Amino acid sequence: MASNMANVLFINGPNLNLLGTREPGLYGNQTLADIEETLTALGEELSIRTGFFQSNHEGALVDRIHQARDESVSHIILNPAAYTHTSVAIRDALLGVAIPFIEVHLSNVHKREAFRHHSYFSDIACGVICGFGPEGYRMALLAIANETVNGNE
Ligand code: DQA
Repeated sequence: MASNMANVLFINGPNLNLLGTREPGLYGNQTLADIEETLTALGEELSIRTGFFQSNHEGALVDRIHQARDESVSHIILNPAAYTHTSVAIRDALLGVAIPFIEVHLSNVHKREAFRHHSYFSDIACGVICGFGPEGYRMALLAIANETVNGNE
């Protein structure tokens, strides 16, 4: 297991601070704090260091990704939320720092409106998980622990 070497940063984009009250039929009842607590505990179990960042602002997300390189973050688990479908800036930030990342969506974006079917991230991500609610973040962390995540090609 490479887990004792992993230092994982979870990044969540706009409106995910509203989890728990935001469209619960789609996104569930857990708050972001609940989800982060579960992930912190799982990280401890797996001997993976975890950190968390959420912002509603594109530039703040870009800055946080840049900072991740200085902190030797080994992997990013990213839910870009609505920026999934719009943000060349966040895509370029990830390419710029070359930190391997997993794209996660709570909902199955492919079952939803056509504008959600395109992602600016999927073709540069190590993998994509969608449709499993908060479990998707856990699955991503387990994939890192199991060394099933390869670096950026
Ligand atoms: C989302 C899906 C996006 O289309 C949407 O804009 C979000 C959340 C998800 O986790 O299912 O804000 O990324």
